[in-house]
Amino acid sequence: MRKLYRKLVFMRNPLSNVRKNVNSHSGRAFSDRKWIIPFFASLLVSISLFLSTIFGLFNAPDGGDQLPFDIISFAKSEDSSGYFVEADLKKSFNVSGNWKVEAPRLAYLISGTKGDSHRLLRTLQAVYHPRNQYILHLDFEAPPRERLELTATVKNDPTFREVENVRVMAQSNLVTYKGPTMIACTLQAIAILLKESLEWDWFLNLSASDYPLVTQDDLLHVFSNLSRDLNFIEHTKITGWKLHHRGNSIIVDPGLYLSKKSDLAWTTQRRSLPTTFKLYTGSAWVALTRTFVEYCIWGWDNLPRTILMYYTNFISSPEGYFHTVICNTEEFRSTAIGHDLHYIAWDNPPKQHPISLSTKDFDKMVKSKAPFARKFAKDDPVLNKIDKELLGRNDTSRFAPGAWCVGSSKGGADPCSVRGNDSIFRPGPGAKRLQELLQTLLSEDFRQKQCS
Ligand SMILES: *[C@@H]1O[C@H](CO)[C@@H](O)[C@H](O)[C@H]1NC(C)=O
Ligand SMILES: *[C@@H]1O[C@H](CO)[C@@H](O)[C@H](O)[C@H]1NC(C)=O
Ligand SMILES: *[C@@H]1O[C@H](CO)[C@@H](O)[C@H](O)[C@H]1NC(C)=O
Ligand SMILES: *[C@@H]1O[C@H](CO)[C@@H](O)[C@H](O)[C@H]1NC(C)=O
Ligand SMILES: *[C@@H]1O[C@H](CO)[C@@H](O)[C@H](O)[C@H]1NC(C)=O
Repeated sequence: MRKLYRKLVFMRNPLSNVRKNVNSHSGRAFSDRKWIIPFFASLLVSISLFLSTIFGLFNAPDGGDQLPFDIISFAKSEDSSGYFVEADLKKSFNVSGNWKVEAPRLAYLISGTKGDSHRLLRTLQAVYHPRNQYILHLDFEAPPRERLELTATVKNDPTFREVENVRVMAQSNLVTYKGPTMIACTLQAIAILLKESLEWDWFLNLSASDYPLVTQDDLLHVFSNLSRDLNFIEHTKITGWKLHHRGNSIIVDPGLYLSKKSDLAWTTQRRSLPTTFKLYTGSAWVALTRTFVEYCIWGWDNLPRTILMYYTNFISSPEGYFHTVICNTEEFRSTAIGHDLHYIAWDNPPKQHPISLSTKDFDKMVKSKAPFARKFAKDDPVLNKIDKELLGRNDTSRFAPGAWCVGSSKGGADPCSVRGNDSIFRPGPGAKRLQELLQTLLSEDFRQKQCS
């Protein structure tokens, strides 16, 4: 409906403008020259009619043919969509064929709650690369002291201080599990990353209980070879009982207006299913392109805003907001790759939360070829195994080392204390695994399932 309305507006207005212009011009021409032109015109018409009758060429006279022809050619040559601001904005969607030469940059949001600051830092160090941007968020439940400590640690780190690519959100948002306050927090982090006009190509969302299974060198190397319009967002259309359970229910998130945390409230009222867009759901873990998140945040098209308002009363909005926006936007639908780049294990049958991964899951994690996994208990021994075997990180190194770490590691020194060229990568076995995963994800078979 939205699309149709816009199309109608596009078609009608430019033509009516053109017609008005043509009429007024010709009107003026006649009145200026008073009788001379009509006289000669009618004389010409009479003569040509006379001649054409004589020669048997029953063609329409030139004068009569000229005017309509002009209108058509004018309307055709002038692109009617140029009258509307949306047309220019839509051009910014088109990044296909935009294979930048420069290596990509990623922007990470890493969020946590009370007691998470240490493992949040550990995850940050494991995914750290000077090319990237990082924004850290501890929610409202974390005491102010914990946030101050985190900020101090970031401030005192010589690498973070020099590169200036790690930020801690000073504002602590009240985030309700499965509520819209969670999506609001993610959107705020994206808005900060855009506002600072930092250079980055993909936005990724992690929590303190996530951990990488490949190095950033692996990830950046493989993503260098990727079209920068691909969004990794696991999604399916909501159907069956789930559609009615989720679509008809109305929830209220008190986190939107109360200063103290409380659970989501379910109302007894029901609402009808949306008819202007279709509902999709999927994983809350996403890797989205800058173009797509700009579309969601800036809102020059009303759809992302309308859907955000709709999701205010929808259960589990982080598992549906971006999914519904992307699949209902013609320009982005084909860019949605149905994978969240995570290894997540569930009980059978699935419970509310995924299984906490441990050493016995190590092989399965590696086999999945996913670049990230969740969730991990704080300081679980498997994290040390990942550090050592997958990230090449040991006690002496703060970060999972990459080609940018050019210092000496002699005598327990940190090689990353000396920074080299950050657009050179040293891909390892992780890059090979990720490349294989992407080959599957980008295959015709897989992409046919997009938004269906
Ligand atoms: C996007 O850009 C490419 C190359 O500049 C062009 O070939 C293609 O037609 C454009 N697509 C759209 C939908 O405008
Ligand atoms: C880049 O992508 C092409 C095909 O899309 C593939 O053949 C090639 O191996 C990739 N190169 C790297 C370094 O990943
Ligand atoms: C982003 O990450 C957080 C991790 O804390 C998660 O809870 C949230 O649902 C994620 N997704 C979105 C779309 O906000
Ligand atoms: C790990 O530590 C040893 C010394 O204990 C050091 O020789 C080695 O270079 C370190 N490896 C990495 C990848 O930093
Ligand atoms: C870093 O490496 C890239 C790729 O090899 C090169 O183009 C660039 O000039 C280097 N930058 C610096 C500052 O040496």
